[in-house]
Amino acid sequence: MQSVERLTSRFSPGGFTLANNRVYIFDTTLRDGEQSPGCSMTVHEKLGMANKLVELGVDILEAGFPIASEGDFEAVDAISREFPWVQVAALARANKLDIERAADALKHARRPRIHTFIATSDIHLKFKLKKSRQQVLDEAVAAIELARRYTDDVEFSAEDATRTDGDYLEQVSRAVVAAGARTVNLPDTTGYSVPDEYRLLIKRIADALGDSAIVSVHCHDDLGLAVANSIAAVQGGARQIECTINGIGERAGNASLEELVMAFRVRNDQLPYETKIVSEQLYSASQHLSSIITFGPQPNKAIVGENAFAHEAGIHQDGYLKERTTYEIMDPRSVGVPESKLVLGKHSGRHALGKRCQDLGFQLTKEQLDEVYHRFTTLADRKKGVRNDEIAALVHHALGGTHAFAAAADD
Ligand code: KIV
Ligand code: ZN
Repeated sequence: MQSVERLTSRFSPGGFTLANNRVYIFDTTLRDGEQSPGCSMTVHEKLGMANKLVELGVDILEAGFPIASEGDFEAVDAISREFPWVQVAALARANKLDIERAADALKHARRPRIHTFIATSDIHLKFKLKKSRQQVLDEAVAAIELARRYTDDVEFSAEDATRTDGDYLEQVSRAVVAAGARTVNLPDTTGYSVPDEYRLLIKRIADALGDSAIVSVHCHDDLGLAVANSIAAVQGGARQIECTINGIGERAGNASLEELVMAFRVRNDQLPYETKIVSEQLYSASQHLSSIITFGPQPNKAIVGENAFAHEAGIHQDGYLKERTTYEIMDPRSVGVPESKLVLGKHSGRHALGKRCQDLGFQLTKEQLDEVYHRFTTLADRKKGVRNDEIAALVHHALGGTHAFAAAADD
């Protein structure tokens, strides 16, 4: 038998307390996220992003799929060396070559996790793998046994778990745990599940496994349900969530890390679960990611989108200026956004315009503000938003001044 150099691992199953409400955040921005269109990153970029994820406080950082490319191998290796105290995961299919490659990439990690997977749904077995259920079961068990020769921290994923026969999924889950898996991930690979159905599936497997393993979830967003499904899974007993910054990932993406974390924080009355994420770092992690891939979050994306803390409607602006919590359920600073924005556009009212004029240094009487407001609505009707220099120009016009700013309002 070939000799195996065991990886150093501080992982101990006893280190997890399954009974409590602590939810482990397994970040896969650098693996599932990176493997989607427009998101590929160099090793250097991955190291920079890993640094952000470490600052953010993710529990497990999936750094790549070492057999897939030289770059992925190097990234796993570089991240393991650079952040020795971090639990670094590497992905491997359930076969010898993949697992050995993952173990090799992780050899400098002090807390290495081998994450091995095989599909379990009949549709994948029949058309993709062309294998029987027994074959897949045997290969899953053999993969775990091999991975355990390198590290105690082995995760198994039953790809397409949500379209897998329930009895078979339970059989595979029990078998991989008996073989040494300490985390069993039940991905909604195709984003097909709905919350209550997923919660029940997770509950079934979590009950079957008891304290012998952590049940993990990994949801894709094909129906826009990845976050809702992940939350339902936690309610069913999952204690690890696999997710990504800005929700990037295959096709419609993965569950968005920032949305999950803030749902647990803001609605802790309904969702009494804790993560160790430093939420004040969320915006900067999102911005950093956007700067190294080809796209950022859509403007109306929850938590980190450009408009997540922007108010344009007059009624909202008026309420917000009287008391922020009338229209904001979280303080922007709690996610690292420096301040809310009052966008001045055609729906804005006098209150917000007056406040902006004041911020720009203009003390206006009521009559003056009425005049500026009149000019403002005319301009705002023609434009998508009114800039500060344009507002200054309106003020100068209204006050009868001839200021260089005046030109802007006439554009
Ligand atoms: O979506 C999926 O099933 C995966 C697994 C490899 C975890 O990404
Ligand atoms: Zn995935």
